[in-house]
Amino acid sequence: MKIENLAKEHIRNLKPCIHGGEVWQLEFSKKNILDFSANVNPLGPSPKAINAIIESFWKIPFYPDSNNKSVKEAISKSIGISPENLIIGNGSTEIIYLFSEVFVKEDERVLIPAPTFGEYEMAVLKANGKIEYLYLTHDFKIDANEFIKKMEDVKVAFLCNPNNPTGLLVPFDDLIKIVDKAEKNNTLIFVDEDFMDFAPKEKCSSLIREIDYYQNLFIIKSFTKFFGLTGLRIGYGIGNKEAIEIMSRVKIPWNVNCLAEAAAIATLTDSEFSDKTYRLIGEEREFLMNELSQIKGFYVIPSDANFFLINIKKTGLKAKELKSKLLKFGILIRDCDSFKGLDEYYIRVAIRTRKENEYLIEALKKVINYG
Ligand SMILES: Cc1ncc(COP(=O)(O)O)c(C=O)c1O
Repeated sequence: MKIENLAKEHIRNLKPCIHGGEVWQLEFSKKNILDFSANVNPLGPSPKAINAIIESFWKIPFYPDSNNKSVKEAISKSIGISPENLIIGNGSTEIIYLFSEVFVKEDERVLIPAPTFGEYEMAVLKANGKIEYLYLTHDFKIDANEFIKKMEDVKVAFLCNPNNPTGLLVPFDDLIKIVDKAEKNNTLIFVDEDFMDFAPKEKCSSLIREIDYYQNLFIIKSFTKFFGLTGLRIGYGIGNKEAIEIMSRVKIPWNVNCLAEAAAIATLTDSEFSDKTYRLIGEEREFLMNELSQIKGFYVIPSDANFFLINIKKTGLKAKELKSKLLKFGILIRDCDSFKGLDEYYIRVAIRTRKENEYLIEALKKVINYG
């Protein structure tokens, strides 16, 4: 008996997506590695979140609230969206899969830009949908007119804003043009705003305020990145009430644990921590942009997020080679050749604290200048 033959046909060919943050696969102990490959808050979680976790240990023998009432109320208060427009997931990744499972029917076409976060593709393939790719322009922008042209006859279009791995925002007017046109064609627009809280406030192009105006708009946000609750796994979707209702019907019960919920609620009240994070990333983005741009052979794409995409071709090194050389310094970076639309000469580095960023620059200079 060949067990694989018993699996669904379209599932058999799927391969897991590659990500940064592979610290558990390394020989180093986690404590000795500086992880620039995962784009998360370098300060870790808020102290209020840690306290809330400790104070919630008593909840462990109980099932968590499968409707996530208290965390929905906390998010609602924080972002000004009604709890009926929210669905909570085991990380925003769960919401990507749930959305695709609910809305992508067999052989329906879905539009995905390239390069972008790999799980949209996986979720659509798992739902047995068909993918159309729209490659970004030479300077890694979305051409809104091209996007709209390609959007004809697609059921769902994904957009990541700011985009992973480029760090670039899609301008608000372009987004509205896309969502507006999509609504007329019955196309759903899925916008991933997981990195939006890091973007400069004056450039922010979040569509959260538009959720009541466009029935076809769905947005995800995460507690993984800005709030540093990475290992706890909690994120959410924001959408039209009908979309939320039907997704809630098929969501896995008790998908979010009680400690993740408590931490998420607490971190939303810690404005001091949020302000500190926003300020740190803003300052370090400027510092790192300047320092990285001075490294011989580096072409750094200016970023609105908490990471940089860098073309290293002129250094004469491939991303994999640079990654393994940096590991000798205890530094882990993301080699980007698994992203559709990028070749073997791109790396991505997260923005961390000043001391850590300086250590990265020092190591890069040693590797690039002296081999
Ligand atoms: C753009 C983007 N969306 C979603 C996710 C998934 O985040 P979460 O931890 O909330 O599942 C990631 C993780 O790397 C990401 O980069």
